[in-house]
Amino acid sequence: MSEGAQDTLAEAEAFLRLWHDEQPGTGPVRSRLREVSAQIEATGTYRHTFAELEYGARVAWRNSARCIGRLYWPSLLVRDCREVTAADGIAAELVSHLRLATNGGRIRPLITVFAPQVPDQPAARVWNEQLVRYAGYRTGGRHVLGDPRYVDFTDAVARLGWHGAGGAFDVLPVVVETPEEGPRLFELPGDTVLEVPLAHPEYRWFADLGLRWHAVPAIANMDLSIGGIRYPLAPFSGWYMGTEIGARNLADADRYDMLPAIAERIGLHMSSERTLWRDRALVELNRAVLHSFERHRVWISDHHTESRRFMTHLERERRCGRVVPGDWAWIVPPISGAATPVFHRQYDDVDLRPNFYLDPLAARLGRHGGLDAGCVRSASG
Ligand code: ARG
Repeated sequence: MSEGAQDTLAEAEAFLRLWHDEQPGTGPVRSRLREVSAQIEATGTYRHTFAELEYGARVAWRNSARCIGRLYWPSLLVRDCREVTAADGIAAELVSHLRLATNGGRIRPLITVFAPQVPDQPAARVWNEQLVRYAGYRTGGRHVLGDPRYVDFTDAVARLGWHGAGGAFDVLPVVVETPEEGPRLFELPGDTVLEVPLAHPEYRWFADLGLRWHAVPAIANMDLSIGGIRYPLAPFSGWYMGTEIGARNLADADRYDMLPAIAERIGLHMSSERTLWRDRALVELNRAVLHSFERHRVWISDHHTESRRFMTHLERERRCGRVVPGDWAWIVPPISGAATPVFHRQYDDVDLRPNFYLDPLAARLGRHGGLDAGCVRSASG
């Protein structure tokens, strides 16, 4: 057996034992292990049953150290698209993913798993960091129209022939790359991308800022790793926590950078940091996000509620005798950190599998808009 096959076997064994230990009634692990080791011996890889895939994907979420939203890990819906390998078919399933996940605003945590990486057979990928993101256009100098995070990605899709409308919130196309067809562009049908225009519960002028955000965050560039098998295309999505939008995407100086404009409209004194104009603008922006999603009946959670849920998750997992991997800098919300219970404790930042990983090869090839290592925190998961 090659070294690679031996690693696969060792990971397969660890995963299958975990799943049989945690899920009573899954039959004897011994016979399944014999089967899997024979498959690996003959082909260098093995095929997960649907039940294994489903459980593996759920545990990958459970093990995601950066995600505060893990309480609901057992209810993750798993779609098996391992047989879909042509770019057209993949694009159609990505659209279905968004429709099913959006669910008219009652967002369901969902993952769609495409074909794994097997020896000598590169798998399909998408270039996008998330299925739905907004274009960023350089408008001369350092100014960017849209989301500055996706300026390079926007350039890359322009080279593939995409023409954006030139607005601040143009939904980018999806680039599906298969070994047979290379990279191909797909525009998401307008009705698959639910968006919420932002207004404020008291400031009437807020709507005039023309801000909006999409309802479903769907990470598309991470490898799902289960029992020694890598799934390079396994987009997953949940609902938003308000701060991801209000305290990061629309607020960060290198993203939409909206705090100065909001503070100015409120009439805050910006000549001194001590007026805390940034902080006050942040709170109002976050109120607008939560208020607008709620008014449009799109699920979103606030950071106080999500923090409490995470404490419940920690307690449940402790009772099951499990370690909860956690990365403090990602778990603690980007505003009012110490006002939430998750601030006042420490976490084990351990790497448990199954899990999700950023593909190091893809990162090296400069896959566009990847969550690079230097990327400051924003809640994942
Ligand atoms: N922080 C990312 C964003 O703003 C999304 C990461 C996943 N978040 C989630 N709630 N599932 O788009």
